[in-house]
Amino acid sequence: MASGNSRGITTSQVGVHDKLDELVVKYRESENKRPVSAHTQTAFDEVCDWLSDYDGDVILDSCCGVGESTANLASANPHARVIGIDKSALRVDKHAHYQVQSDNYRVIRADVNDFWRLVQQSNWNITQHYLLYPNPYPKKTQVQKRWHGSAAMVDLMTITPNIEVRSNWLVYLMEFAKAAKHYGLVSDLVEVTGDMHMTPFERKYRSSGQSCWKLKCRSDED
Ligand SMILES: C[S@@+](CC[C@H](N)C(=O)[O-])C[C@H]1O[C@@H](n2cnc3c(N)ncnc32)[C@H](O)[C@@H]1O
Repeated sequence: MASGNSRGITTSQVGVHDKLDELVVKYRESENKRPVSAHTQTAFDEVCDWLSDYDGDVILDSCCGVGESTANLASANPHARVIGIDKSALRVDKHAHYQVQSDNYRVIRADVNDFWRLVQQSNWNITQHYLLYPNPYPKKTQVQKRWHGSAAMVDLMTITPNIEVRSNWLVYLMEFAKAAKHYGLVSDLVEVTGDMHMTPFERKYRSSGQSCWKLKCRSDED
């Protein structure tokens, strides 16, 4: 029996948003002129120092919350360096509770709207990008707040085609797949199964009896 008490997604939007394609094309063709915030630039510079004598695989865990998934990804990929990014100081500061003994990862406070732009201008060798349970913004009017409907999608798409997105809202992932197709990515969508929970939000949703889904994107040239 379900032990959690998280309520499922409530929305008037039943399928993929009717304006999604239009938005994706608009942002793909426009330049993102948003200035980079000072705290994100500082966080990025610190990661650059950490990666300065390293040219191996780098894995990003964007919107990592408390960084539980970041620590687990670091343990599972000892050959790589893993960077967890979240804008909430409160959540990032809680990472100590989830920390593992491993020097191949960092959890930093930064805004991914800016961080992704800085990453795509860097020469880091990003091989995987995780986006686990991003805020769904399920109201129909909030479509531009979802990553795939926002100006940040252009930068997100240039970092690496190997992206895994998880959500408890299937429509979010269907939309992401459709938006990513505009950038030449193909995707597989499957339900999350098994007893292991990759993040606290996944644990919360699944222990409340909700289904969670994962979308894996890759280049259509692979
Ligand atoms: C629903 S929580 C999921 C956290 C974690 N991935 C998990 O599954 O437990 C969404 C997270 O996205 C972060 N977030 C939202 N917008 C962000 C942004 N612009 N830059 C960085 N993090 C952001 C929030 O602070 C929050 O921690």
